[in-house]
Amino acid sequence: MIEQVPDRYSGPNDPEYHSFRRMEFPDMTRPDTILIGPYSPRQRERLESRFVTRLVDTPQQLTSLASDERDACQAVAYHGHSPFGAAEMDALPNLRLIANFGVGYDDIDIEAAKGRDITVTNTPDVLNDDVADLAVGMYLALKRRLIDGDRWVRSGDWTRRGAFPLNAHASGLRVGILGMGRIGKEIADRMAAFKTTLHYQSRQPKQVPADWIYHAEAIELARHVDVLFITVVGGEETRHLVSAEILDAMPDEAIVVNVSRGTVIDEEALIARLQDKRLAGAALDVFANEPDVDLRLCDQENVLLQPHQGSGTVHTREAMGDLQYANLLAFAEGRELPTPVN
Ligand code: 8YV
Repeated sequence: MIEQVPDRYSGPNDPEYHSFRRMEFPDMTRPDTILIGPYSPRQRERLESRFVTRLVDTPQQLTSLASDERDACQAVAYHGHSPFGAAEMDALPNLRLIANFGVGYDDIDIEAAKGRDITVTNTPDVLNDDVADLAVGMYLALKRRLIDGDRWVRSGDWTRRGAFPLNAHASGLRVGILGMGRIGKEIADRMAAFKTTLHYQSRQPKQVPADWIYHAEAIELARHVDVLFITVVGGEETRHLVSAEILDAMPDEAIVVNVSRGTVIDEEALIARLQDKRLAGAALDVFANEPDVDLRLCDQENVLLQPHQGSGTVHTREAMGDLQYANLLAFAEGRELPTPVN
């Protein structure tokens, strides 16, 4: 019979919580952990050697596990972008930790987790450089048409058709950062080297160089920039923050670069403005319905597409795995969790 945790224990960060759990789960130091999603051989070997594990591909498969397997589960190592909500959490009555493999946790219902005394952790900071590098790379690739240039050479067009058409200047422009968080700051620091004028929007002004121009409203930011980097967190709060109105407020020849979440942009409004050239271009690493990218985007010449690879380097994905593992280990050993989000 599985007993409910008395309220006096405030959850995995409360040292007494673990002494109680040990009474219930004999081997609390090897918590029963369900792995969801893809893991590298190194990550998988380490998780399996330290925890009692089983693997499913998506949270939706949790309900298909046997009831004793679901009852035994105390932690989930989650790597994915499918919804992880109340129904999935209720399938695991003794779940206390969801250790997310990613900085963004907009797929996890944080309110539902709070209501069930489940702590959620993420993997911030270790991916800032990669995501910022990709954002700047996408900006240059779009402005200077690097993909087309490569194709012009490989296809023999250079021989057949002569010089590659001239394209757009990338330095000295007005750059906007929508969301001056950790990744936004890294992009801004990199773009400062392109002799740009930096503008940003966030809930309140941030500790940044004095010549970076703060805008309280996203529409104000949109009006003043030639390129808009989108780096706000995903989720309901920012759904379609980059609306038709925001896109229409941008100057002619403006472009957007999105490395946050597809939900942040009103994709229908974006596609319409790319098709009729009210927007000069877009570089997108995230989409409304990944991985099934809207074909109308694929048909657009003035669009650069990437497969949500912002943090997609061996170095960074291992660092993300290390941080996820560190949270699971702290949970197993009754220590403070390194990166809780609730
Ligand atoms: C993904 C990301 O987690 O960290 C995030 O929020 O979007 C990415 O790093 C990555 O796609 C995981 O495979």
